[in-house]
Amino acid sequence: MTTTIDAILSLSKRKGFVFQSSEIYGGLNGCWDFGPLGVELLRNIKESWWRSMTYRTDVVGIDASILMHPRVWEASGHVQQFSDPMIDNKTSKARYRADNLIEDHIQKLANKNKTAQAAEIAEQLSKAESNEDFYNIIVNNEIKDPVSGTMDWTEVRNFNLMFETHVGPVASADDKVYLRPETAQGIFVNFKNVMDSARMKPPFGIAQIGKSFRNEINTKNFLFRTREFEQMEMQFFIPPGTEGEWFEYWRQERWEWFRRLGISEERLRRKPHDKLAHYAAAAEDIEYLFPFGWGEVEGIHSRTDFDLNRHQEFSGKKLEYVDTATKDRYVPYVIETAVGATRTFMAVLCDAYAEEEVPTGDGKVETRAVMRFQPWLAPVTAAVFPLVNKDGMPEAAEAIYRDLQRSFRVDYDTSGAIGRRYRRQDEVGTPFCVTIDGETLSDGTVTLRERDSMQQIRLSVDALESEIRRRLHA
Ligand code: GAP
Repeated sequence: MTTTIDAILSLSKRKGFVFQSSEIYGGLNGCWDFGPLGVELLRNIKESWWRSMTYRTDVVGIDASILMHPRVWEASGHVQQFSDPMIDNKTSKARYRADNLIEDHIQKLANKNKTAQAAEIAEQLSKAESNEDFYNIIVNNEIKDPVSGTMDWTEVRNFNLMFETHVGPVASADDKVYLRPETAQGIFVNFKNVMDSARMKPPFGIAQIGKSFRNEINTKNFLFRTREFEQMEMQFFIPPGTEGEWFEYWRQERWEWFRRLGISEERLRRKPHDKLAHYAAAAEDIEYLFPFGWGEVEGIHSRTDFDLNRHQEFSGKKLEYVDTATKDRYVPYVIETAVGATRTFMAVLCDAYAEEEVPTGDGKVETRAVMRFQPWLAPVTAAVFPLVNKDGMPEAAEAIYRDLQRSFRVDYDTSGAIGRRYRRQDEVGTPFCVTIDGETLSDGTVTLRERDSMQQIRLSVDALESEIRRRLHA
């Protein structure tokens, strides 16, 4: 089933997955807040990544600070190069990323079946290397501002994506720092600290989850491109010469992780990079088929010794591994795996969303919306309902609810017909519903209903927790 961003957005707000940041003040572009269900889903995604990356002998974790020494970003190249080509329309004052403006124009031509023209401009775009090239494509193809309809364009200029701020009370150029645009540099600068303190030797990795910030020119498509987002990155430090085998190893591992999240394989693809950075030996993205098209969720990069060498050069500190037995010394090569936690959240949300026709029991059918999350990933594991709000059922249901809450995230719902309560849980992806009825009071059994099959079994209250646990990881 293909869903739309609007359907996902509306469900997110209605059910409390994601809200617009500062919504009562009109919102802040490119920033989002995770609501009660969203925060649980995001935590489950991050926990799954953390377990898969660090519950092994050769990878350890860190949590570096967001603000770092400004020289870090000179060494990494971000001060010089972390920019996008930007163009303004003088009439409407609208600002665009030049390459996005061209891409949107190509898409419009394709929608109008002007495929030859679209292909020709796409070819020009693929060869564009400078701001002048972008400008010429826009002007020569008479690409107009979607807002004013004019071609009243400025030059194309570079726009650095890093947010600047100041440390200390005086805002001067000397106190300038940046909100980190990636978590990776916090790992590189701690390479030696971690290697020495955790007694690691290559091949070994350092993993980190944390917020990153980019002043994106055009934020779009909900959580896909935001100004504040969360990344999950791992740098794997290896002896030079072994980068081929480790790159292959991590590209397989990372693909498997997306499969374990339950994302449909037909909506995932690998995309090797056409153009490699000058220092990179290999790079491949994992892409997901979002409602707006294919988009990167993770990059796996073979980065040679570029980053550690740059930090050696800029800090004046040695960042080598020295083998104590052989006295061999080298600057390790790095394989990086870089995935967006919030972008993966969006992929999981889009992938789980389904609408289907189901029988109502009286010979009719109705449409139900259901989030088919993997049971262990769902924000709420189980919901408990008393069939009616009398005859001792609420008391029995509350006792079961409190009991299950010790092991799982559980919801309790007493309002409306039981069918409506099931639908509410289906819509937020709760995999199990437990109903307490008259029989519960006489023989100590309840019904357990499974979300996808909608099948119900009757089982004893004593067996409930272990049965849910068994099904969670079945
Ligand atoms: N250290 C390498 C690095 O940061 P990247 O491809 O720029 O590589 C890695 O970012 C991942 O971070 C992306 O695949 C994406 O999932 C996520 N990401 C990057 N920019 C983002 C943004 N503006 N909004 C949401 N997620 C973003």
